[in-house]
Amino acid sequence: MARRRTAAPACALACAALLAAAAAPAPEALADPVAATGPAPVRADAERLAGRLASEVTTAGAWRHLEAFQRAADEHGGVRAVGTEGYDASAHYVTRRLTEAGYRVRVQRFSFPDSLPVAQTARVTAPDPRDLHPLLARFSPATPDGGWRGRLAVLPGNAYGCGAADYAGDVRGHAVLARYGGCDLARKSELAAAAGAAALLVNVDQQPAEMNIRSTVRPPAVARVPTANLPRGEAERLAADAARGPVELFLDLRGRAVTTESYNLLADTPTGRADRTVVLGSHLDSATEGPGLNDNGSSAAMVLETALRLAPHRDQVRNRVRFAFWGAEEEGMIGSGHYVAQLSAQERRETALVLNFETIASPNYARMVYHGTGAVPPGTDTVEKVFTDRFARRGLPTVPLEFDGRSDFAPFMAAGIPAGGGSAGYNHLKTPEWQRLFGGTAGQLTDPCYHQTCDDLSHLDRTILGQFGDAMAWATARFAVDVSDVGAVRAR
Ligand code: PHE
Ligand code: ZN
Repeated sequence: MARRRTAAPACALACAALLAAAAAPAPEALADPVAATGPAPVRADAERLAGRLASEVTTAGAWRHLEAFQRAADEHGGVRAVGTEGYDASAHYVTRRLTEAGYRVRVQRFSFPDSLPVAQTARVTAPDPRDLHPLLARFSPATPDGGWRGRLAVLPGNAYGCGAADYAGDVRGHAVLARYGGCDLARKSELAAAAGAAALLVNVDQQPAEMNIRSTVRPPAVARVPTANLPRGEAERLAADAARGPVELFLDLRGRAVTTESYNLLADTPTGRADRTVVLGSHLDSATEGPGLNDNGSSAAMVLETALRLAPHRDQVRNRVRFAFWGAEEEGMIGSGHYVAQLSAQERRETALVLNFETIASPNYARMVYHGTGAVPPGTDTVEKVFTDRFARRGLPTVPLEFDGRSDFAPFMAAGIPAGGGSAGYNHLKTPEWQRLFGGTAGQLTDPCYHQTCDDLSHLDRTILGQFGDAMAWATARFAVDVSDVGAVRAR
């Protein structure tokens, strides 16, 4: 794939200069169109604009953007991942469309330590020679020069390898095969190293059997054994062979530490109080293994469409809306993390909430709304209710989606900012209950193309995309007019 280390849309410098020139006005100086005309039933105004925007934000409108993202991938090696030209092409498109609609687009740069695969070879040399298709984990150490030869050790009972007892058998000097999930990969890596294993192979035991996913060992310093993922089909055959006798492997696994540069795109409504900023965001980068049309082109396209459709209604916006397109989410929410980290304490307090969406066009969808259990920033419950009420009013059932730390809401919530939004599912297995509620196929992933090359335009579900678009537009307009019932804002 084509990677560029310095990459930004052509307007980057000009846009940044424009922004720097426009000193931010003090919050009280900002126009509050309703305040000027005296008190008004704010909630009614909010729901009027919400209804209007929800009817204007459609699948057809977002589809043009999705076609542009597909083109960005097709013309640049099939991916839109951080640091690639496919990401830049996506960012160019978003920048152009926002600029045409009158937004000033700000390019917010960041860089971060990253890791690129150099060699990903795994081969069974005996008893039944064949090539395997490993995906090297980011930050994995390398096998010795010339590769590694040795024996496979399968953890007993299809274990996750999350406890020391899993490694009690004969693993010293061998390549261990463990099951995907159950705990952080870092934990498995530490335990495997402590038990003297020579390498860690992980069975990505998902549907379909050929699915493989690249993992990350984080923090990188913990990574002490070469680590790679294998698709279930290959891993199961390995385990079956190992049950009959020794399996001999050849591994050549090597990565390279790099510094990757990327950027977020930010665009604000020119209207609305800055001290009650509503952030609507989604990540614009794809995984390194595919074009990312569902993950997360679907959400980015709808966020863009929401921004374009809100522009003509800007005079009704009482709380500033900041549209955000995050970079490097797939590398661990790097762009959104950078954004939150660079906010001043005051800017953090003045962020009323963040709306975040992931994979909203999944073909085997579940209608999932983020739901917080335990300690979540106050106001998170309000955001959830705005979404569940909207879906309920349209007769559309929803199920709760735990804040799982797997998307760009995470840095915001860690900073005490309420969050909400939803997803139509990524690598979630559809349950029989979900099949009853939403149709589709139980026992299959909600998106069988999650982080795969097949995550393209042709596999998206237009119906669920439109339903999430409606909810996104509804909530954005509602909070753009009224955040009085959102957590900390209440006091303001
Ligand atoms: N959002 C991506 C995923 O869920 C990347 C990620 C993984 C981010 C795990 C955080 C934690 O696969
Ligand atoms: Zn995603």
